[in-house]
Amino acid sequence: MATRADWQRTHWCGEVRKADVGGEMTFNGWVRRRRDHGGLIFVDLVDRTGLCQVVFDPSECPDAHATAGGLRGEYVLSVSGVLAARSDETVNPRLETGEVELRARRAEVLNPSETPPFSLTEEDAAADEMIRLRYRYLDLRTPRMQRNLRLRHRAAQAARSYLDAQGFWEVETPMLFRQTPEGARDYLVPSRVNPGHFYALPQSPQIMKQLLMVAGMERYYQLARCLRDEDLRRDRQPEHTQIDMELAFVTREDILTVTEGLFRAIFRETIGYELPDPFPRMTHAEAVAKYGTDKPDTRYGMELTDLGDIAAQCEFRVFASAVQSGGQVKAIAAPGGAQWGRMVMDRITEELQRETRAKGLAWIALLDEGPKSPIAKFFTDEQLRDLIARTGANPGDMVLMVADQPDVVAEALDRLRRKLADRLGLIPEGVFSPLWVLDFPMFAWSEDEGRWDAEHHPFCMPHPDDIDLIESDPGKVRAQAYDVVMNGDELGSGSIRIHRRDIQQRIFSMLGITAEQAEERFGFLLKAFEYGTPPHGGIAPGFDRIVMWLCGEPNIREVMAFPKTQTAQCLMSGAPSMVDDRLLRDLHIKLDLPPEG
Ligand code: AMO
Ligand code: AMP
Repeated sequence: MATRADWQRTHWCGEVRKADVGGEMTFNGWVRRRRDHGGLIFVDLVDRTGLCQVVFDPSECPDAHATAGGLRGEYVLSVSGVLAARSDETVNPRLETGEVELRARRAEVLNPSETPPFSLTEEDAAADEMIRLRYRYLDLRTPRMQRNLRLRHRAAQAARSYLDAQGFWEVETPMLFRQTPEGARDYLVPSRVNPGHFYALPQSPQIMKQLLMVAGMERYYQLARCLRDEDLRRDRQPEHTQIDMELAFVTREDILTVTEGLFRAIFRETIGYELPDPFPRMTHAEAVAKYGTDKPDTRYGMELTDLGDIAAQCEFRVFASAVQSGGQVKAIAAPGGAQWGRMVMDRITEELQRETRAKGLAWIALLDEGPKSPIAKFFTDEQLRDLIARTGANPGDMVLMVADQPDVVAEALDRLRRKLADRLGLIPEGVFSPLWVLDFPMFAWSEDEGRWDAEHHPFCMPHPDDIDLIESDPGKVRAQAYDVVMNGDELGSGSIRIHRRDIQQRIFSMLGITAEQAEERFGFLLKAFEYGTPPHGGIAPGFDRIVMWLCGEPNIREVMAFPKTQTAQCLMSGAPSMVDDRLLRDLHIKLDLPPEG
């Protein structure tokens, strides 16, 4: 074993307790705060385990006390001394080490520090995010970020040991590859030795993992870095990590079971939370009908109800004509919303019109004196009674209704449901509600492109009952694809894959990919499928999004060490940056852009 230099730590700041009192020890860490009581000097010393108070008494250690007098925030310090119990009045119950303090005997500044541009203490951690990202190495020193990265590490270890125990092999796949079919824009990398040719960074290892099944790996996983040039949001980064998995000779049930086990292991071993066993399930069609979305938040009710039949008969033209033209009229009931009144409802309506494609919002307030609504006059008493009963609303509730084409109704009521649940305080704290959403549609019609797109990706196996519909009624074809959803977020996606070349080719041609294009883009995969491909399938939970929930963080940037901004920049390093002309020449690239203004 290596010998320890005399300045090196014997104990961690955050781990010493009353039982260690009397022990001689050395800490290494950063000076978070120094208080000079004209005589005694108190220093909060921090390492990644936490904080311990160090006391410098001039009568006990004049030299160390003199050193302490020169300490500033974030100086790197080695300090040795004896651990002492704090007197009853000075115990700090908010600190895990609050019953003890180190009486310093020796102190050595290992390195001074510039004054940090923001405070690193928990209490005043409200620095502007731009500054935090610019000085990310300091931001990562804060208790919040250390806790987040520790949890992220624990989650990764839990995933690895669970998957290892389930017989998965961890296989790395290349970052320099060809275009992958996840539907975002690719990041391209020019090849110096192959002028005019580009690698694409993988949007996911989708094709590689299917090839690994052809290769007889049976069970593969990887904490895979995935790169996608897409618009960024609170839960989207250009680089993210998936717990990417693929299994051979399995049914959908096998994959759901192993994935639930993975989630349960992660939640148990990081935050001690027991997820339900088994996860509830719902078809895609049911999710959209009941919640207006394929990623419903099932922590609370407020489900959508269909009022089409009643609406068709009423005198309110907007409702009747929506139904006549193939649209829908649907409602949600907001518990306790009856008191909102016209002004609030006007504001809610305006907001909904601004944020969604909804043209209006109709409402009925269930007041003590009876239902009140601007559209009540268009309904018979019986229709009104039926309508209210259908929504399950109780006295004191507000019924909110939208009439339009199904996708607009879904979009509007999904948005309204989430907003109002938040506003009404219906979302329980500390609850995780996982859900399987099954049987996604195979294709989605793209208005922009005027053709069918793959809803997930083109390698999903259609439902056996729907294979005959591929050409005749593509909108009806269900894929053997599934999402794992939690608290309204999509945490993972997967499918049983196509392992037969004929079906694969029919899917490609529905997507407008000609045989030649398929050959050019995926020829190597189609070729591989001809050499004994086992039935296989997989899934890829989004690791960053899981960690967001474990940490209770609302933004994905808080659970990544070095994230990018909304405009895909790294504020710390200045990436992306311009490069030398020389380098561009080597890469056979000429920048023909107009000079920057
Ligand atoms: P998909 O594209 O649905 O599927 O991605 C799987 C999961 O990864 C997470 N995710 C992201 N997280 C952060 N930032 C992003 N930009 C981002 N994009 C996706 C989500 C998502 O559910 N190859 C398929 C999986 C398969 O079929 O096995 C795939 O990549 O949580
Ligand atoms: P109007 O007849 O346009 O004044 O609308 C009467 C009420 O119906 C208002 O509260 C509107 O917000 C509402 N409304 C209008 N269009 C729709 C719609 N497509 N769906 C639901 N309510 C609507």
